[in-house]
Amino acid sequence: MNRLPTLNKFRILSVLAVVGLATPLLAAPADSIASRIAGYRDLGAAFKSVNDSLRAPSPDTGKLKAAAQTIRASAAHQYKWFPRGTGPEAGVKTAAKAAIWTNSAEFKKAQDAFAAKAIAFEGVAASGDEAAIRSASRVLGATCKSCHDQFREEK
Ligand code: HEC
Repeated sequence: MNRLPTLNKFRILSVLAVVGLATPLLAAPADSIASRIAGYRDLGAAFKSVNDSLRAPSPDTGKLKAAAQTIRASAAHQYKWFPRGTGPEAGVKTAAKAAIWTNSAEFKKAQDAFAAKAIAFEGVAASGDEAAIRSASRVLGATCKSCHDQFREEK
């Protein structure tokens, strides 16, 4: 009696599973690159807001905290920003070097270094301790530069 509904349910579930697995593979390289660049723009804007805050006579803790959260979120998302096929071979404008994929162990190290410093920065951002925030932001900025020097094309 129950056989048909069960079979149908199974079929529906299989179809959903296949669609679910196939979707990320079908994302066009151009779309992945566009969302990666958008992600880096948000990250760049957040980091600029940190530096602007630190130049102000008295840094705005709320602004620093919000920027630190954006930076920390970018550090989590960056791991999904480099699917295969989104390098120079994509035929779309991107500054991502092929080394990201050919030297993926080093690239992962650069991502991990950034993630660790983003977490540390978030930890001090709301503390009100200006010297500590300044120092953590410099350490964080060094992880951006180190990755860019190795893995991003010069403009
Ligand atoms: C692990 C490597 C890595 C780290 C860490 C990193 N970046 Fe980048 N960044 C890249 C790559 C690769 C690109 C080029 C992306 C592209 O063109 O597809 C890029 C591009 C950018 C861009 C240019 C976006 C545009 O308009 O084209 C900005 C701004 C930027 N990063 C800011 C930052 C800041 C600020 C940090 C640190 C807080 C940072 N990045 C950390 C690898 C990194």
